[in-house]
Amino acid sequence: MIDSHVHLDDPKFDYDREDIINSLKDRGIDRVYNIGADLESSIASVSLAKKYDNIKAVIGIHPHDAINYNDKVEEKLIDLAKDENVRAIGEIGLDYYYDNSPRDIQVEVFKRQIELADKLNLPIVVHSRDASEETFNIIKESKEKYPNLTFLIHCFSQSVEMMKRYIDQGCYIALGGVVTFKNAKVPKEVAKEVPLNRLLLETDCPYLAPTPMRGKRNEPYYVKYVAEEIASIRNMEVKDLVEITDANTRRFYND
Ligand code: NI
Repeated sequence: MIDSHVHLDDPKFDYDREDIINSLKDRGIDRVYNIGADLESSIASVSLAKKYDNIKAVIGIHPHDAINYNDKVEEKLIDLAKDENVRAIGEIGLDYYYDNSPRDIQVEVFKRQIELADKLNLPIVVHSRDASEETFNIIKESKEKYPNLTFLIHCFSQSVEMMKRYIDQGCYIALGGVVTFKNAKVPKEVAKEVPLNRLLLETDCPYLAPTPMRGKRNEPYYVKYVAEEIASIRNMEVKDLVEITDANTRRFYND
C-alpha cells in the first residue's frame, strides 16, 4: 500500500532512515511521498526520491516558514521541480494555530505557490490548521482562476460540512493517525462520509502516530492502522479500501 504523506528527511529518522526505507517493501509499503516544508526539506525530498525508487517528492514552503519566502526561494523551487520525481507542490497553506509567520504573509505565500503550481502543472498538498474558512476561500478563488488545479487537504481535521464543500471544489481528502484516536468523533464521521474516490491515506510520520502506536515515532507502515480503522468504520475489507485509496493517490499525484 501507499503512504501519501511522510517526512522521512526529519532528524528523527537520522539514525535508521536507510533501514526504514529498505524495509518498506517487506512491510507492505510500495511507495511513499516525501513532503517538503521549507527549502532544506524540499531539497532533501528530491534527493531521497533520486536515491530510492519507492520515494517520490513533494516540494514547497509550509505556512510556518512563509516569512522566509522570496524570489530566490521560488527560483530554487522551480529548479527543483525540473526533476521528474517531483509530483506536487506542498505542503503549503495556512496555520493560524501556531502563527509562526504573520497571517498576511501566510496568505500571500500560499497564493504565490498556488500560482507556481499552476505554472508547473502540479497538484497541491494543503496544510490547514485553525484557518478552515480562509483556506477554503483561497482554494475556491484559485479554482476559478486556475480550473485545472487539484488540491489535497492533508491531515483533514475539519467538519463533515467543510469536507463536503472541499469535495464540491474537486479536492481530495487525506486522513491519518488522528482518525484512530478514541475521542476523534469528527474525523471518524469524515471517514464515514467522504466519497471513497476522493480519500487518501497518510501517516505524516514522524508525527501523529496512530493507535496503538500513539505517542511513539510514527513510521510509514503504521498507515495500515489508519486503513484498518477506516475500513472498520465503513464496514468494508481493508484490502478493498486500500485498492481504492492507492488508486486515488496515484491519480492525485499523476503517478
Ligand atoms: Ni506533513
